Amino acid sequence: MSILIDGKALAVKMRGELKERVAAYRAERGKDIGLAVVLVGEDPASQVYVRNKIKACEEVGIRSYSYKLPENTSEEQLSSLIEELVAAENVHGILVQLPLPKHLNERKILRLIPPSKDVDGFCAENIGNLAMNRETIVSCTPYGVMKMLEEYKIDPKGKRAVVLGRSNIVGKPMAMLLLNADATVTVCHSKTHDLKEICAQADILVVAIGRAKFVGADMVKEGAVVIDVGMDRDENGKLCGDVDFAAVKDKASYITPVPGGVGPMTITMLLYNTVLAASRS
Ligand code: GUN
Repeated sequence: MSILIDGKALAVKMRGELKERVAAYRAERGKDIGLAVVLVGEDPASQVYVRNKIKACEEVGIRSYSYKLPENTSEEQLSSLIEELVAAENVHGILVQLPLPKHLNERKILRLIPPSKDVDGFCAENIGNLAMNRETIVSCTPYGVMKMLEEYKIDPKGKRAVVLGRSNIVGKPMAMLLLNADATVTVCHSKTHDLKEICAQADILVVAIGRAKFVGADMVKEGAVVIDVGMDRDENGKLCGDVDFAAVKDKASYITPVPGGVGPMTITMLLYNTVLAASRS
């Protein structure tokens, strides 16, 4: 049996530290750290995510400003709200929950958020800074993965890392973070030839493709570190990851469970980024 990477425990520890930093900020500057959370429409998954983000803010003492707008909100209405939040001194981070309803231009909306308040790390400037290994705000999920590796003293330096998935939110920033940490990085995706063979060479395998139990034992090297970013449902409707945990757990040296692995770290890193944004302001 491999060692379980306990994301939940690390999230609890980091939130405790963040709570102290938030209190210190308040004591020093005489004001709260603020995060604006904008949700447009009624997407049920987004509603749950936003609720959890607001709850997490309360837990560490960050003041949240929640904006729930109807599905038929126009681009002008949403833009003017964001512009207000950009100008507001009490708002240090702005999060627009994605996906937006189809009639709204996501790129145009996100471009209104300045890099200094982009606590999701989604904007081109923050991603560009990450690519150049400069000070930036890093996308929450991959940043959480790096914190987990650090906690378990897994140093990517010189290791062969394979990232399965090339999304802008997870796969690409994950690959850049591992590269910045001196790993030798390969990014695989749906068009990759010899996928199994490439994954089976990985010392560190990060999987973020959104396909239930896709990675089996034949794709994992003996002793590999396996990080599962997936949040899927299996054939019985039970929550599972992109990795077939039962099949892989005895082959990996370290593995993240689902739930309780990467998931709890994502929101923690949002809080972390918000504190960082406030401290830099
Ligand atoms: N939708 C799904 N994940 C995320 C996220 O991390 N940030 C935002 N803003 N929207 C999302």
